[in-house]
Amino acid sequence: MATTQKKYDVKDLALADEGRRRIAWADRQMPVLTAIRERFEKEQPLAGYRIAACLHVTTETANLMRTLKDGGADVVICASNPLSTQDDVAAALVEEWGIGCYAIKGEDNDTYYQHIEAAVDHKPHLTMDDGADVIGVLHSARREQLGDVIAGTEETTTGVIRLKALEADGALGFPIIAVNEAKTKHLFDNRYGTGQSTIDGIIRATNVLLAGKRFVVSGYGWVGRGVAMRAKGMGAHVIVTEVDPMVALEAVMDGFEVMTMEKAAEIGDIFCTATGDKGVIARAHMERMKDGAILANTGHFNVEIEIPALRQLAVETRHAREFVEEFTLANGNRLYLLGDGRLINLTAAEGHPAIVMDMSFANQALAAEYAVKNAATLERKVYPVPDDIDREIARLKLATMGVTIDQLTEEQAKYLASWDEGT
Ligand SMILES: NC(=O)c1ccc[n+]([C@@H]2O[C@H](COP(=O)([O-])OP(=O)(O)OC[C@H]3O[C@@H](n4cnc5c(N)ncnc54)[C@H](O)[C@@H]3O)[C@@H](O)[C@H]2O)c1
Repeated sequence: MATTQKKYDVKDLALADEGRRRIAWADRQMPVLTAIRERFEKEQPLAGYRIAACLHVTTETANLMRTLKDGGADVVICASNPLSTQDDVAAALVEEWGIGCYAIKGEDNDTYYQHIEAAVDHKPHLTMDDGADVIGVLHSARREQLGDVIAGTEETTTGVIRLKALEADGALGFPIIAVNEAKTKHLFDNRYGTGQSTIDGIIRATNVLLAGKRFVVSGYGWVGRGVAMRAKGMGAHVIVTEVDPMVALEAVMDGFEVMTMEKAAEIGDIFCTATGDKGVIARAHMERMKDGAILANTGHFNVEIEIPALRQLAVETRHAREFVEEFTLANGNRLYLLGDGRLINLTAAEGHPAIVMDMSFANQALAAEYAVKNAATLERKVYPVPDDIDREIARLKLATMGVTIDQLTEEQAKYLASWDEGT
């Protein structure tokens, strides 16, 4: 295990060269972050600040880490999921950029939490979470360090929900910028990024043909609608399960069949949970499933499918192929769990394409800069990313895509702001 003297714990430093090549490949698809990095290099907005990041250790994340470092920060990173680390990227962060990294793909739970502790040992002024795990440690075992932290950022829906709960309890120790709430994050990353990469993960794990399959998506939030849209595009018959009547109505009007999980369980060929909730596919559902049903999750934690119940139900389990475990039930039916129920797009595929992460991580970099600049006035609350930052990222992204849009004329601006101009 890593110590504070040895600022890394990665699988194999010899993988660094491959990591560097793949990080450069992703970088070419991240022009907004590149522009921010070039400015950060000149302006050094993060000089003197220590950052502890807990993110999926992927090529895109590496480019964010480089940006923070070039902005003057002293950065370390640990994994935000035991299975999402790309070992070559972890090696390259250490070897090529001298960034402390604690992440090994497939690490057990104990090592996962030891790695988070190692990142907290860095004594951060800023935290950068994807699922609020660093913040969780700082608010429990390391409360004495809370006073050193000026702010944190949070990448995902599940993390933001937890942090808002902490704020509501009056227990939040420092201000948080909820990166997930930026439109240039969740409208694109959660929907198009997760939509595509989740399908990619399911296909890479199974090589299944989606056309003609009954594909059940649980949760029709930003992630769920992305997955549903892409599964439909590949010819699957998509069924949605929901608990929110308004969202369920949207799914119906978008052309999907909506039903309870109890019903869907009987007819689905492939199931994918995307709710941020737990026990969405429970024992009673598994008992109703068809022989050969495939179960995947793309929500943040591996609690959406009741895996302990599946293990109890099974009379036999078998490793069917990489990322696929076969469970034979007493009735003879075989169910296939993908990637141990962890987010399948990062477990069996590479996570979101870089072009999408460009916007998510532009938000992270600019949120860190904003937090440092405004530390004196921010309270212990969860803040959205300021609208001007969000819009600036959209503007930059369009520019890098070569898309120009119309501008309001003075007359139009006046018309839109008035109440007395009619026909
Ligand atoms: N895999 C990834 O790379 C990735 C990327 C972004 C977000 N996420 C995670 O995906 C999850 C969903 O994120 P989101 O942005 O779509 O959230 P969201 O809040 O927009 O949507 C979640 C939806 O799930 C529904 N839901 C809750 N409990 C349910 C249940 N028991 N059955 C059916 N539906 C239920 C809610 O009503 C809501 O509509 C979160 O855990 C988030 O952190 C993962």
